[in-house]
Amino acid sequence: MNNLPHKIPRKALFAFTILLLTFIPIIKADQYLAGIDCQNATTYDPNSTYSTNLQTLLSVLSSNSNASNGLYNFTAGSSPPDVAYGLFLCQGDLTAAACQDCVNWASTNIVARCPRSKRVTIWYDYCLLRYSNVSMFSVVDTKGEIILASTYDVSNATRLSEVLGQVMYDVADRALSNHSGKKFATEEANYSALQKVYSLAQCTPDLSYSDCNGCLRRAVSRLKNTRIGSRVLYPSCYVRFEMAPFYNISFDAAPPPPSPVLPSPPSTTTPSSPGNGRISPQVIIAIAVSIGVAVMLSMAGFCLLTRRAKKKKYNSLREDIGGDDISAVQSLQYDLGTLQAATNNFSYDNKIGQGGYGPVYKGLLPNGQEVAVKRLSETSGQGALEFKNEVILAWLGSLELIKLRQIQVELLEPLVTCLQNI
Ligand SMILES: *[C@@H]1O[C@H](CO)[C@@H](O)[C@H](O)[C@H]1NC(C)=O
Ligand SMILES: *[C@@H]1O[C@H](CO)[C@@H](O)[C@H](O)[C@H]1NC(C)=O
Ligand SMILES: *[C@@H]1O[C@H](CO)[C@@H](O)[C@H](O)[C@H]1NC(C)=O
Ligand SMILES: *[C@@H]1O[C@H](CO)[C@@H](O)[C@H](O)[C@H]1NC(C)=O
Ligand SMILES: *[C@@H]1O[C@H](CO)[C@@H](O)[C@H](O)[C@H]1NC(C)=O
Ligand SMILES: *[C@@H]1O[C@H](CO)[C@@H](O)[C@H](O)[C@H]1NC(C)=O
Ligand SMILES: *[C@@H]1O[C@H](CO)[C@@H](O)[C@H](O)[C@H]1NC(C)=O
Ligand SMILES: *[C@@H]1O[C@H](CO)[C@@H](O)[C@H](O)[C@H]1NC(C)=O
Ligand SMILES: *[C@@H]1O[C@H](CO)[C@@H](O)[C@H](O)[C@H]1NC(C)=O
Repeated sequence: MNNLPHKIPRKALFAFTILLLTFIPIIKADQYLAGIDCQNATTYDPNSTYSTNLQTLLSVLSSNSNASNGLYNFTAGSSPPDVAYGLFLCQGDLTAAACQDCVNWASTNIVARCPRSKRVTIWYDYCLLRYSNVSMFSVVDTKGEIILASTYDVSNATRLSEVLGQVMYDVADRALSNHSGKKFATEEANYSALQKVYSLAQCTPDLSYSDCNGCLRRAVSRLKNTRIGSRVLYPSCYVRFEMAPFYNISFDAAPPPPSPVLPSPPSTTTPSSPGNGRISPQVIIAIAVSIGVAVMLSMAGFCLLTRRAKKKKYNSLREDIGGDDISAVQSLQYDLGTLQAATNNFSYDNKIGQGGYGPVYKGLLPNGQEVAVKRLSETSGQGALEFKNEVILAWLGSLELIKLRQIQVELLEPLVTCLQNI
């Protein structure tokens, strides 16, 4: 067992290539839930008029999801107690097709997420959808606040709050004074010589100037400004910052391109098109880039592995699995309960990356083993409880590399040194 570390390199490199190819999100296949607000106090009967109106509302929203400005509202029914009001809003830089995908996904899933609730707001990464038995148009709503933040602290919190103090208020001002039909803006700022902060602010365009202003200012003040990324979601507005691009950089005619090492996330550059067999040139480029990145990451993984192998022996891993080194990174099936416990119920905080088939979470098994859990996405057609979950027993330090594309330029430095020595 003690000789394990000496055997790692070649096989591990191979295993890593496979692992990373699995994880690299070549095409975004799904919409990821960012938050949901179910007002369970107000419920409706499945046979009621409200229920019928709600079905109508959702199908109308869905069929108008190509709306040119990314917002659409509709009122279904006419007799007051049973009227269903609803709207959707897409992130301002989405193409009509990407908006349509997000809204279609939201409208087919929202009711199952909050059965019988009359008032629901659901946020996916790139769109929100709401319905209620009370009119919501042109009314500012900051209830049902959702705050998301990366688990990772930024290296210099003083610097980040300095940057955010400027850029978040700028971007909010630009969003609310934008008369293009969308109250939306994005902005980049320098955090260090190598890293940028990418920011976004958006209101539903039906709000007045002062309502939008109030909503955005409140949202900005609630961001977690010591983390490498955070967002605040309200039914009426949305702010977000990350240290990697998460919107279409070329959309706002603004600043220079991002660091060439890290391609922007496919979620914004290659909108999903499930059930659509054509492969566009962008997808081919995305695949090529992904493979390139995968190879680079594999080499980086190799470096990390060898680096760590000097320090640590993988006894527990060996005992858990047996077999050769490649099986040490093979997938295992665990029951859902164990994985829910291990990953704190798949909390956003435990999410370490986004694989081609679903998000990847960091978990801690009862025996103290750190694992990465890949959760297959909803498009595989399974219900929430039947999610097929996979655990990849691996060195989390290496799996963090998946995240590398999204965040950690800093992590690159020791790796580059190592790569030069290969
Ligand atoms: C709802 O409708 C179903 C069939 O359409 C019927 O069996 C059921 O009794 C109804 N429930 C109520 C509460 O009316
Ligand atoms: C949206 O799609 C519908 C059919 O799905 C079509 O009738 C309508 O013209 C489209 N609207 C726009 C703005 O493309
Ligand atoms: C959409 O909202 C506006 C107010 O912002 C309202 O005047 C309009 O009637 C709504 N549209 C529908 C279809 O309900
Ligand atoms: C909305 O539904 C709740 C609970 O069913 C009800 O108390 C309230 O009066 C309804 N509001 C309107 C405007 O119909
Ligand atoms: C509302 O109902 C949904 C679905 O039944 C449930 O998942 C959620 O926890 C409930 N929320 C509250 C605040 O009770
Ligand atoms: C953190 O940022 C502040 C403000 O820009 C700067 O003065 C300080 O030197 C930085 N600290 C480190 C350790 O880089
Ligand atoms: C950010 O840094 C780049 C070079 O690293 C520089 O060209 C650019 O002007 C800086 N932007 C701001 C807003 O300071
Ligand atoms: C990004 O925005 C530009 C400018 O609006 C547009 O031409 C391009 O198609 C967009 N790209 C994607 C992937 O949405
Ligand atoms: C206003 O929004 C449009 C997109 O809807 C964007 O292209 C433009 O740059 C924005 N203007 C400002 C001043 O931010």
